[in-house]
Amino acid sequence: MIRFEGISKTFRGRDGAAVEALRDVSLEVKEGEFVAIVGASGCGKSTLLRLAAGLVPPSGGATLIDGSRVTTPRAETAMVFQAATLLPWADVLRNVTFPLRLMGRMASDTEERARKLLATAGLAGFESKLPRELSGGMQQRVAICRALLQDPRLLLMDEPFGALDALTREEMSIELLRLWAARKMGVLFVTHSIPEAVLLADRVVVMSPRPGRIVDVVQVDLSRPRSFDQEGSDEFQRCARRIRDHIFGERAARAA
Ligand SMILES: Nc1ncnc2c1ncn2[C@@H]1O[C@H](COP(=O)(O)OP(=O)(O)O)[C@@H](O)[C@H]1O
Ligand SMILES: [Mg+2]
Repeated sequence: MIRFEGISKTFRGRDGAAVEALRDVSLEVKEGEFVAIVGASGCGKSTLLRLAAGLVPPSGGATLIDGSRVTTPRAETAMVFQAATLLPWADVLRNVTFPLRLMGRMASDTEERARKLLATAGLAGFESKLPRELSGGMQQRVAICRALLQDPRLLLMDEPFGALDALTREEMSIELLRLWAARKMGVLFVTHSIPEAVLLADRVVVMSPRPGRIVDVVQVDLSRPRSFDQEGSDEFQRCARRIRDHIFGERAARAA
């Protein structure tokens, strides 16, 4: 469904110096596939998502959705950022429906669907609260509901659980998997957490430190539905170790 073809991205800093963020990245996410991306901070993970969302152009190569070049944001794509990025003056329900309203895609059942989604995310009763009346974790859940309400074919998530405490994080990942299983959208999910990547994904893409290149793609053969009980399994340990070896192996080699 989405394909990165030989993507490179170089930013020019304000001092004129070039920062090579991505080098020759090729990757495909199939319809309904869950792909996680892990890699050191600064290796271009967020840049890759922003390219997929059509928010920045590549310096070289192409991003294609269904074979056509992504040049601007598309209705079939939704993104969740690390910070919730809610509108401070709008209540929860309005925040969740905002993108659809903006795109002129409100339907007669949109509000009811929004209320249902909020309820699944544990936010029933908070529909008319303002973002500042919610905890950080609740705000992030609102942002996730906002993305899901768009019923995207491609969901881009940039460390969406990064600001949550460990318990909420586990709960949210299982909830995300449940929602994903019901709709089967393609997901590109950036995370710092190797266990989280393995628990969630069909495939885990491991990136090198800057300039970001793909050093390995690990296929996760754990049965679905997934649960944290699988963390003890041989397959889980095999995948986690292989990813860890890439990330810390390279670091150790550079330090030597
Ligand atoms: N708009 C920008 N202007 C200049 N440099 C940028 C810009 N966005 C990202 N970068 C640089 O590109 C590199 C990759 O950034 P990013 O994609 O945010 O990495 P990650 O999400 O993996 O931490 C970093 O060195 C970052 O400083
Ligand atoms: Mg980032």
